[in-house]
Order: sequence, then structure tokens, then C-alpha cells
Amino acid sequence: MPTIQQFECSRCHIYVPADKPQTVCPACAGTLYVRYDLSAARGINGRNAIAKDAAQSPWAGMWRYRSVLPQVTPVTLGEGWTPMLRSKRYPGVYVKEEGANPTGSFKARGLALAVTMARHLGLRKLAVPSAGNAAGALAAYAAAAGIEANIFMPKDVPLANYLEAILYGANVTLVDGLISDCGRMVAERKEKEGWFDISTLKEPFRIEGKKTMGYELVEQLGWEYPDAVFYPTGGGVGLIGMWKAFIEMEELGWVRPGKRPRMIAVQSAGCAPVVRAFEAEAAASTMWENAATFASGLRVPKPYGDYIMLQILEESDGIALAFPDEKILESLKDWARNEGIFLSPEGAAATAAYDHLLANGELTLEDRVVLFNTGAGLKYTDVTAEAMGLRRP
Ligand SMILES: Cc1ncc(COP(=O)(O)O)c(C=O)c1O
Ligand SMILES: [Zn+2]
Repeated sequence: MPTIQQFECSRCHIYVPADKPQTVCPACAGTLYVRYDLSAARGINGRNAIAKDAAQSPWAGMWRYRSVLPQVTPVTLGEGWTPMLRSKRYPGVYVKEEGANPTGSFKARGLALAVTMARHLGLRKLAVPSAGNAAGALAAYAAAAGIEANIFMPKDVPLANYLEAILYGANVTLVDGLISDCGRMVAERKEKEGWFDISTLKEPFRIEGKKTMGYELVEQLGWEYPDAVFYPTGGGVGLIGMWKAFIEMEELGWVRPGKRPRMIAVQSAGCAPVVRAFEAEAAASTMWENAATFASGLRVPKPYGDYIMLQILEESDGIALAFPDEKILESLKDWARNEGIFLSPEGAAATAAYDHLLANGELTLEDRVVLFNTGAGLKYTDVTAEAMGLRRP
């Protein structure tokens, strides 16, 4: 396992000491990246050692990449190393099934690492504003670590998110508003309450957990990049984390050199601040008013790391696309009936985007692409049933 050297600001690039808890850059409030001494993992041998190491490790899942993660004992519930499913209809399509994670979503990866580091650094009280799945994941890992979790989420999150947070013993506040309102409430109270704020991109370790998706997809494709990665985008931690992984893997000599994948950020037309900024060629997004979509994880009206995502989209020759909920639901039903995969609404936004780019010729059937199903469809039984107009007779 490597030692952390320091944090680096994603915006002004100053270095910040990593020997105590840090939130954002003290100079410009930019998101901090973790920087390691990775020399021990360099070269193809470092890559080849992974499977052998993983077989001998007491920890499963994403901890197979512990040679590029902080040198600490993990708080783990078995997150990561999720299936890479092949489509039955489209030869180039792989679905990264993140619903297989503990708590049924990819949020487990980021929160496993954030809680691991919180325990390591002696933090006792964590707080998070959440669109839903981050709340469930924080509640679970905090319970596993014996740390207090304070959660603020919109009152109309899927019932599963409310239930899991309560069941794991978190302090839950349901808010008549959006994640941005929840974030404001955490910010107002954290100092007085002694909470450490682990909001999306306001602490450096959730990116580290999510970056394992980048390592994993490259390893699962035979240490090669796909042509494109479709990512349902809310706060953007996964997109940013995967891009960091690709850069690290190139520095390490782990990935066959070639063009990095085009990053495709997918949102709902009911809340698409990144798409709007991308289309306007802006450097940052503006607040999306009256955000509404059944893809609750995408209801992030002003992502904190918008400037990083927009840079990555540009650098990767990427695209940002939004689809109305009806189109997302249509794709969700299509994949259930024709592939046996029950997508989350967020995942179905990615499959809808694939159909769109195939139809307009931007992609061909031969292009190898990874579509992220970021959560299990079964976490959304209430909202998806409602969107389908389905009631028990
Ligand atoms: C299922 C699901 N997909 C996608 C997202 C968006 O994730 P990110 O904040 O990494 O963009 C979320 C966030 O809550 C989510 O729960
Ligand atoms: Zn800075």
C-alpha cells in the first residue's frame, strides 16, 4: 500500500498536508485530490500482482486495488469488483452492474473509503447531504465503524433510502427541498454540532473509493480502455474518480497505451445543469431551477465539481446529454424485458443515451462501451412503479 504524500487542489494546484482531516482547498475551496508515492506499484508487475494479492487478502472487492489506495485497515462490507455484463443485443456494450454493491449502489465505494479514513483519523461524527443512495451507504458504513451519521435528504427520496438510513441507526432529517438545500443545512450546523462534512467533493476520499471503478473496468476489459464510458451524472464523483484512475494507471504503466475513453455524462431533462453548461461551452454550471426527475440520484441542481467534469468532458472528446423521464422509463423497460437487467432510473438514462448515440451515428455497434448501472433497480420500486402507473390490484 502506498503512502499519501499530500493533497493537491484540483483548481489552483497548491499542496495541502494530508496528516490531518481536510475538506476543500484552503485557498480557493476547490476539491482536493489525494496524491501518493506510487513508485512501488509501477510497471506491469505491479498490475500482475493484483490478482495474486487479492486472492491472499483478507478483504475482497475494491480492496484488490489497495496498492493505489491509502495504507489503512478498511471498513468494508464487500464493496466493489462488480459484474461486467455483456449485452445480449449489442456486441460492443458492457453494463457495469453497480447495483451489486452493498446498499445496492456505487455510493458504497466512496463512502467505504470516506468512513475508513474518518475512523483512521479519529473523526466521531459525520454529516452528509444526499440525493438518497449516499445516505444509505454512509449509514451502513458508519454503523459498521461505530461512527455517528447525520443525514439530510429530500423528503421524497425513494422509500428504500429512508428505510435503510433509519435501519442502520443514522440521525435522519427529511428536507422539504433538494440536495442543495440539504447541503446548506449541513453547512449551517456542522460547526456547532462538531460534524465532519463528507459532502460530495468536499472531502478527498470519496473520489478515491469511486476511482476503483476506473481501475476495475480497465482490468475487466483485459487492461484496455473502452471507446466510451456512459456515466449517469449528478455530483460527478464517479466521473472525476475514473478519470483520476486512468491518469494514475498510465503513470503506473498498467494500461495499454491508447486513447482514453470518451466520457459521456448523462442527466435527466428535469435536472441537467452539466448538459446546459457543456452546450454553452461554459467553465461551470448555473443552478437548475425546479429540478424534478424520478432518477433521484441525478437531482443535483448545481454540482460542486462542475468545473472538473466540464474539463474532463472537453479533454476526453466527451458529450453531455439529457433525456426526459419518459425516454428513461422506456429504456428501463426495454432492458428489463430484453436483457433481464432491472436498471435504476439513473442507469436507464445511460442506456437511453447509448440508443441515441447509436441512432445518430456518433457510435457504431463495433464501438466498445461501458454503461454504468449505478444502482439496483429494486431500490426504486416505489418511484418506478409510480412512473409506470402500476398499483397492486
Ligand atoms: C444511482 C445513482 N446514480 C448516479 C448518481 C450520481 O452520482 P454522482 O454524484 O457520482 O454523479 C447517484 C447519486 O446520488 C445515484 O444514487
Ligand atoms: Zn485551490
